[in-house]
Amino acid sequence: MILNLKIFRYDPGKDEEPYYQNFEVDADPMDRLLDCLNKIRWEQDPSLSFRMSCGHGICGSDGMRVNGISALPCQKLVKDFKEGEEILIEPLAVFKVVKDLIVDMGTFFERYYSVRPYLITKSPPPEKERLQSIEERQKFEDATRCILCACCTASCPINQVKETANYIGPAALVRSYRYLFDSRDEGHDERLALLEHKDGVWGCKTKWWCTKVCPKQIPITMEIATTKKSIYDITKKTK
Ligand code: SF4
Ligand code: FES
Repeated sequence: MILNLKIFRYDPGKDEEPYYQNFEVDADPMDRLLDCLNKIRWEQDPSLSFRMSCGHGICGSDGMRVNGISALPCQKLVKDFKEGEEILIEPLAVFKVVKDLIVDMGTFFERYYSVRPYLITKSPPPEKERLQSIEERQKFEDATRCILCACCTASCPINQVKETANYIGPAALVRSYRYLFDSRDEGHDERLALLEHKDGVWGCKTKWWCTKVCPKQIPITMEIATTKKSIYDITKKTK
């Protein structure tokens, strides 16, 4: 099966402007789109740049836009495209392009670290581990699936607009949620305080794009709504 990939190209070291380049790839229907990109790099143009590692939806490194939608090409099967159809491959939106399909993830990780993505404990450690029931674990189970691919943040219409681009973004909020509702965490209120501002959790305007594109099916919009409700409940109590 012949696939026609139209790929965004830009090398800031030598190109004045970005441009698109078409490649034809002979692929097996059960190949993934990532296999096609590898074939191009190995057989046609070794300068084509993109990130990848696991090839199986685990590492989150190959986030890019496929026909305008943020996705992981390692999760896209060739058989789901039509023979001869032009498939548009572009870097994730929102982030600065480093080269071709590689973007600068610096801001993404700064925002991720700003929510303190680790367990906060204040009480003395128990003799063995800090125990948790199955029910307690289930409260944040979905959020633990996040692989930091940035597909959600890159798809968020709020992050895409210059005036609101400082919004912390859905990926950082998912990571915050993961600890906010962990029964072992003792930093609940200070975590909420970190998010209570216009570019924090209130930056979310419930557009749902994050939930639509998440390759790990995390109910991101619902988790953000739960976080908003927690802040609202605390504010109500203190009034
Ligand atoms: Fe990727 Fe989903 Fe995590 Fe966002 S929440 S970074 S889309 S895995
Ligand atoms: Fe690791 Fe796609 S290559 S998630």
